Parts: sequence; structure tokens; C-alpha cells
Amino acid sequence: MCGIVGYIGDSNATDIIIDGLKRLEYRGYDSSGIALNIKDKGIQVRKKKGRIQNLEDLIAQENLYSNVGIGHTRWATHGEPSDANAHPHTDMSGKIAVVHNGIIENYLTLKEWLINEHGVVFKSETDTEVIAHLVGVFYDGDIEKAVGKAVEKMQGAYGIGVICADEPGKMVAVRKDSPLIVGLGQGCNFIASDIPALLKHVRQIYLIENNETVILTANDVKIYNADHKPVKRDVFNVTWDADAAEKEGYDHFMLKEIHEQPDGVRDTLVRRMDENGEIVLDGINMTKEEIESFNKVYIVACGTAYHAGLIGKFAIEKLANVSVEVDVASEFRYRDPFIDDKTLFIAISQSGETLDTLEALREAKAKGARVLSVVNVVGSSVARESDDVFYTWAGPEIAVASTKAYTTQLVCMYMIGLYMGRKKGTLSDELYKKYIDELLAVPEKIKEVLKQEKKIKKLAKKLYKREQVFFIGRGVDSAVSYEASLKLKEISYINSFAIAAGELKHGTIALIEQDTLVIALASQDRLFDKMLSNIQEVKARGAYVVGVAKENNTSIEQQAEDVIYIPECMDEVTPIVSVVPLQILAYYIAKQRGCDIDKPKNLAKSVTVE
Ligand code: M6R
Repeated sequence: MCGIVGYIGDSNATDIIIDGLKRLEYRGYDSSGIALNIKDKGIQVRKKKGRIQNLEDLIAQENLYSNVGIGHTRWATHGEPSDANAHPHTDMSGKIAVVHNGIIENYLTLKEWLINEHGVVFKSETDTEVIAHLVGVFYDGDIEKAVGKAVEKMQGAYGIGVICADEPGKMVAVRKDSPLIVGLGQGCNFIASDIPALLKHVRQIYLIENNETVILTANDVKIYNADHKPVKRDVFNVTWDADAAEKEGYDHFMLKEIHEQPDGVRDTLVRRMDENGEIVLDGINMTKEEIESFNKVYIVACGTAYHAGLIGKFAIEKLANVSVEVDVASEFRYRDPFIDDKTLFIAISQSGETLDTLEALREAKAKGARVLSVVNVVGSSVARESDDVFYTWAGPEIAVASTKAYTTQLVCMYMIGLYMGRKKGTLSDELYKKYIDELLAVPEKIKEVLKQEKKIKKLAKKLYKREQVFFIGRGVDSAVSYEASLKLKEISYINSFAIAAGELKHGTIALIEQDTLVIALASQDRLFDKMLSNIQEVKARGAYVVGVAKENNTSIEQQAEDVIYIPECMDEVTPIVSVVPLQILAYYIAKQRGCDIDKPKNLAKSVTVE
């Protein structure tokens, strides 16, 4: 998730690109940069770590006038946020500059090839620099051809923009699995990763498809398919305002991020698997012996990340055959936990800046634990202070209420369990394959759930006036209940409470009376009958029950007033699917109540205080 903007025309490219990047800052903001093709000076690159303001400050004193340029705002994947790793990247001659959104999966192989065969010297740790050098080694006077040859060698996802000092009137862009659009102006044209970057200047857009190449001049845009045949594309007229465009037409970032979950889950998973279905965790360097030496795993986190840890316990204990404790970071720090060099400490954090989690990590490290973090923000404090890092690759999460970070954290939990179990040899080939197949099927199942949005919205209209809600569940469903309950309370301000269903009768059931709303998660086949009994218990006290169950378990309809169905899947992986309808329900309930969904009161996205 990065943002790219390019301009070719007769105005000052610098102002247009900087303005476009600012409008894309929500896509990534750890560094930014610009490359301009300046008369008599050739390609000039300026880039800076941090927000776009830092880049603006850097170039403020310079007169960088050009009619063609490309810019980038970065969300780091390969290489920490730094000036050197910021885009654009150039080839050895410095005449070719590239911006890139996506991940080049075979970049290490290509890097080796470029170093060994072409004596290339790399200046950054990024996968993107490989693209610039590839184009450079293939360039013989035709930038279009050179980009074509480079793309043939690249595997992965990319939206790229390329300019060349020797062909100042041209820009080349290519797309595969990363967004790319072209803006059509009068005597000027644009490229961008997203519509908001261009709305100030153009409303007529070409939406570029996978494996298409675009050649832009100031007065012309040509699109070619993978076979280099010209493509005719209909113009898309954008009618959204800038604010709606940032949210890609969704009313709130939270809803947009809920809808991004199939992609987030797929990316986190697929990009960590080789062609044989084996998990390759490039940020984790643990030997079989080290993994075998751990006699305990601690998972420590806060809020939603803690709830992901609760599922992690189920997954890692089962798959890696080791005892797992889960703790909230603020408690862990002050209870002098028993930790030594045989402990694996897993910190989970979307932001990587949560102070409680960071301090818990430091405490564990000081006592000799091996620290593995599961983090969304590359180069964040938690990532930097860990021995091993497993990035969630959910992309920037803007809404305070965490959604896509949670589901990608869950994927990481399963992958860590599978990775450890595989290395230890405690996992049969059959079970391993079963999990992989089930996980690979999850993105489509989430899409099935998303299709029920209208139905869930209707349910929200029925329920939004409630002032008290109980979530109940068993097994992994109890952990999902905690997350669903947190989601509802933080954005709708409804007093919501979650409890393991079997624990109800030990006290909490005293609060159930006529018409109390109970949301019962009953997604576990092996615990389904037990859940039906728990539902009967609350029904007997007059509760109004909304059930969540797999679509074959229709007998829940005899107990529950309303039912949300999720597609069939293996009990163990249901959390990644079953939380989604409850995120949607929380969203629409909060919307009905007129709440400020993306910025709930009293909350911050990143909690950097104790
Ligand atoms: O950035 P982190 O994952 O470390 O943040 C942890 C919690 O503050 C966070 O999950 C919080 O609970 C969210 N608002 C939940 O939606």
C-alpha cells in the first residue's frame, strides 16, 4: 500500500505531484519522494523519510521546474523507512527513475542476477530498486521496450511509473495486481495509484487492468495488453468528491477496511508461501533446535491485538504442541512473569508503537526471551526491537476501530503455528495441507459474508437502540466474542460485554431479563449442541438472541430470533470469517446512532502512553 502520482504536460510537475501525494498520504506515510526530468540537468530525485511535509521542506529552497515527473508516498514492506529506501529509485546511470506500489516477490533472485551479471551496486534495501536497474540494463534507447523486458522478469504485484532522462516527453506505467489509473487532462496526462490524487485536475479516468502497459505523452495516452496489442478503454467519469474518493466511495474508512479484508488475508498468506505450499517466513530466522528449545510461548498485546492473541493460543498450542499464555501488555509488565531463554515471546501490534506492548517486550527481552513480533507498520518501534518480525501486510489502517489488522493478525497466528509445527515435525503432512487449503479458501468466504451487508444493515436498524448487549461463545468463538463486543462498544458506545458461554451460569446470567440482547456465536460444529443449550438458558430468561452459525447448522433458527450465517469451514479457522459480520453489524449500529465511526470519542489510533 503506497501511493504513486505522475504528471506529464506543460505545467510545473512538482506542485502537481506534491499536491497529489498529500491526497494519498492515507495510503502510506513513512517516506516520500519525487523524480523530475529537468532540462539540462536530467533526472533529479529528492526524497525524505517521514511525512510529505518533510519532502516539501527539503525542496522548498530549490527551483525544481519540470513538465514531467513521478512521485511516491511509501508504506514500507522491504527495508525500514529511511531516505535511502524512499522512492523513486534510479538505475546505475541515474537516467531512469521508477516509483512502485506493490511487492516484487522474486527480487532477491533478480538482485543477485543484477549484481553478478551486470555489476549493479544497490543503494537501498527495497525490492523496487531492482526494477530501476532491470529497466536500466535493458535500455538501449527505447524506454518502452526496456520496461517491457524488465516486467517479463518480475514476479509479484506492481503498479509502476517510469521516466527516462533521454526521452523527456514520455512516461511509461504498468500494472499487475496493484492499482493504477490514468487521468486525462487538456494538454497533460497523469498516472496515479488512486483517484483522490487527481481529482483537483481531472475527472476523466482510464482504469488500467492487470498486465497492461500505458505510454503517456502530454497529448496522448496509449494502452497495450500483455501481447503488446493496443487496447481501447472506455473513459470513467468520476463523480465523487475528494473526501469520498479517499474512502473509495465508502462512507467511512472502517467500512472500506472491512471490505479490504479478503485482499489483506490473501496477501498475508499467499506471499508467504512457495510454489509447493510451504510457508516461507522471511522475517523469522529460527532453527529447528531453537523452536524445539522453547518450553513456553507468551503472547502479549493490547485491545484487538490481544484478542488476536487469544486465537493464537488455540492455533499455536494445537499446531506446534507447546504451551501458550496470553496476556494484556499492561498486566504482563507488572506481574513479574516467569520468563527465561526458553521462552518465545510474541508481541502483536498493528501500530508497533503501543507503549504497553513495547515495554512488555523490553521486559521479556531483558529476561532472555526470544522476541517475535507481529506488526503492521514496518520499521515501527516494536518491529525494530524484536529478534524476528512477521509483518501483517494489511496496509495502512486509518479507522481507530481495528478490522483488517485483526484478521491479518489471525492469519499470522495460524502461520506461526504451522511454521513451528512443521519445523518441529509435530504436524502431519495431512493436517498441514488441510490448514493451508482452509486458509487459502478464507478470502472467498469473507467475500460471501460481505455479500450479506444489506441484510446485516437491516438487522442493525432493528437493534441500534439497545443500550446493553451480551456476546457469548465457546472455544475460539469465545475469543471472537471479546473482539466483536469491543468493536461494538468502541464505535457505538453501547454497553457491551462478552463472556464464555459456559461461564454465564456462574454469575452473569443474573443480568439477563426480558428482551436483553444476546449475540450468540455458534460456529463450532463440535460445540454446537452445547451452544444451543447456552442459548436456551438465556432464552428461558427472556433474552432476544441473534445467532451466528455455519450455514448447515440451520437448527439454530429454532432458538434464535435472527441468524447470521457464515460459509462452511473448518472449526479452527472460523474466527477469520465469523468476526466479519459482527464488524459490519457494529458499523451499521454505530451509523444508525449517528456516531463518529472513524474517530470514536476518547480513543486514539496509536496509544503511546501508559
Ligand atoms: O496498534 P496496536 O495493535 O498495538 O493497538 C492495540 C489497541 O490499542 C487497539 O487494538 C485498540 O484496541 C483498537 N481501537 C481496537 O479496535
